[in-house]
Amino acid sequence: MTNTHSLGEPLSMKRGPALRNRFMLAPMTNLQSGDDGRLSDDEYRWLTMRAEGGFGLTMTCAAHVQANGQGFPRQLGAGEDMHVAGLARLARGIREFGSVSSLQLHHAGNRAPRDLVPQPVGPSDDAETGARALTLDEVEQLRDDFIAAARRAQAAGFDGVEVHGAHGYVIAQFLSPEVNRREDRYGGSLENRARLLFEIIDGIRAECRPDFQVGLRLSPERFGLQLGEIREVAAQLLRQEAIDYLDLSLWNAFKEPEEEACQGRSLLSYFTDLPRGAVRLGAAGKISTASDAARILEAGCDFVLIGRAAILCHDFPNRVLRNSDFQPPALPVSEQYLAAEGLGPHYVNYLRTWPGFVGDSAPI
Ligand SMILES: Cc1cc2nc3c(=O)[nH]c(=O)nc-3n(C[C@H](O)[C@H](O)[C@H](O)COP(=O)(O)O)c2cc1C
Repeated sequence: MTNTHSLGEPLSMKRGPALRNRFMLAPMTNLQSGDDGRLSDDEYRWLTMRAEGGFGLTMTCAAHVQANGQGFPRQLGAGEDMHVAGLARLARGIREFGSVSSLQLHHAGNRAPRDLVPQPVGPSDDAETGARALTLDEVEQLRDDFIAAARRAQAAGFDGVEVHGAHGYVIAQFLSPEVNRREDRYGGSLENRARLLFEIIDGIRAECRPDFQVGLRLSPERFGLQLGEIREVAAQLLRQEAIDYLDLSLWNAFKEPEEEACQGRSLLSYFTDLPRGAVRLGAAGKISTASDAARILEAGCDFVLIGRAAILCHDFPNRVLRNSDFQPPALPVSEQYLAAEGLGPHYVNYLRTWPGFVGDSAPI
């Protein structure tokens, strides 16, 4: 039996406001912004419904910090001042429902689709994607644009930002010894490959107010990453307490590592056993019931991130806190069901590309 009681306990952070419970909305791309990255009513509704539904922290989708880092059509933008007004409306709306707000900062790097970014860029030339290597000046500009986007989030009234260092996007591309073959101070040793990430975090700290919350999302596998290296980067960030929370994107928070030499224990355990001072640790991936969430806390995390179960139930936290046996509906679900849960047509269409999610003859 798992003890689900702790899920409802508040969670203080080293900086910024405490969360009312242990639930964070996982960042989820929803293709609902304007073509220029400005917030739309549909995106506002999708997110504020989750704040109303009890999430302790409501995270936006990945928001691009530079036009040439756009990873998705109708992606939320944070790279220009014209984005601030919409972000301010969103931050206010999330706060009105008692939820802490975070803007996820993203640059797709060599994964930017050609129809959005004619010449994608990355740490090194990449034959597979046709991306070209950033010059040293451009790497510094990239760093500065992440920091400028965090300043915009602050100006808009967000409680903080989450730096997207996961899923093989630009920061993960720099971390990867396979993708990053630079010979300057941003390539080579792990210290050099992690330099962009550390400079972004230090820059946000230096330029935003002292209680601005800074989170980081890392994924420790795929895209040429090595678990041991990502653990080392995490260990250093936790030791320095430069971030307020680390969000581990594992796709399955209960799995074992892919690397054979690391098997025999959970992937998560490589991070829960690191000393972390006042930094909070959370994980995402296949957490869809109260007992799943409680197991992740029992495994040593401070909070959980809920993705697909939060698409299905805007009030997932409130429901599981009221009833520890609550189960979200089984997939697939209908378009009408998703519309009632606050998803606009672009988002529903996007979910049609996720296998088994939307079914036209689904029972609900
Ligand atoms: C529709 C969709 C969009 C996503 N977009 C993002 C994103 O913008 N940024 C990100 O870091 N992860 C993104 N993810 C990953 C989720 O944040 C989460 O880590 C993943 O879905 C696993 O959690 P779950 O099993 O609870 O869904 C997305 C996932 C889904 C299903």
